[in-house]
Amino acid sequence: MTAYPIELTTRDGEQIRFDCAEDQNLIDAAAAVDIILPSQCKQGGCGACHAHATAGDYLLGEHSPDALPKDGGHGSLLMCRTYPRSALSIAAPFDHNRVLFQAIPRREAEIAELAAIGENTVRLVLQLLPDADDSRAAQFEPGQFMELELPGGDLKRAYSLANNGNWEGRLEFLIRLQPNGRFSTFLKEQAKTGDKLMVRGPQGAFGLEETGLRPRWFVAGGTGLAPMLSMLRRMAEWQEPHEARLFFGVNREEELFALDELEELKAALPQLRVEICVWKPGDAWQGYAGTPVDALRRDLAEAKTTPDIYLCGPPALIDFAETAARELGVGEEQIFSERFLPS
Ligand code: FES
Repeated sequence: MTAYPIELTTRDGEQIRFDCAEDQNLIDAAAAVDIILPSQCKQGGCGACHAHATAGDYLLGEHSPDALPKDGGHGSLLMCRTYPRSALSIAAPFDHNRVLFQAIPRREAEIAELAAIGENTVRLVLQLLPDADDSRAAQFEPGQFMELELPGGDLKRAYSLANNGNWEGRLEFLIRLQPNGRFSTFLKEQAKTGDKLMVRGPQGAFGLEETGLRPRWFVAGGTGLAPMLSMLRRMAEWQEPHEARLFFGVNREEELFALDELEELKAALPQLRVEICVWKPGDAWQGYAGTPVDALRRDLAEAKTTPDIYLCGPPALIDFAETAARELGVGEEQIFSERFLPS
């Protein structure tokens, strides 16, 4: 089987090289030599492995149209579905420090808290058990996710972390329960404090970018709020001075959650402005009626400096927000996103 050289250039200009056979995808080929590139579903469904081919031929296998940005342009591909047909050059939208050069850590954890926080939304807090070095530390960057594995190992789901790295080993997730979702059913009907499960991570390339003191605007749909909370909590912890805005949207008021946490954040980060957006509110709703993309559009039109924009939520929200941001003059290199697909 022919194998082709792959040269991947990270956003900060570092190069990573590995070989990939014709019948292998780029993520698996890299993993075979202990290069773990950001990815999640590995089935062309989530968009976490999105990148661009700048030279060479390849075959793009079956994938969900939602996993690729609508106007991603020529060469836009998913590395987990890309099979080379020549030497390939790939431009990756993440920095070198988001590539792991070792197996992804897998740890045992137990459920420390599981509580309903909004209609069909739960907060799950896991406590890591001591590892082989007797450490409980939870090390991750805001914006990253963990893969949770139920006992037996056949059911895995990836969720973004909502808290920050810590020595106590706490991992916090905000999870939307999907009707008939297998993991959701487990959480709703079976899971209880003290139950054990495995976590694989941290993984993922979404996170705060060092781009100077440009304002940071965060747009979250539903539980897409989790990575934004993590990033804002980091900003509060480090007292970062960037002007910050959060547009948090749900369809109906009943779906709102984490409002106390947002109040706490505003107190800890005085330059943060929060806009809660309800798309179809009831008569009593006093806040903004519309989607977070509508609110983003309105504020961008008035912004004096173009902000960095962080997006997390369902694919449609990401696509609309990216289009709005581009139309209002935000450069491609200032838009960072993570797509959430129901599972
Ligand atoms: S990891 Fe490639 S699309 Fe999900």
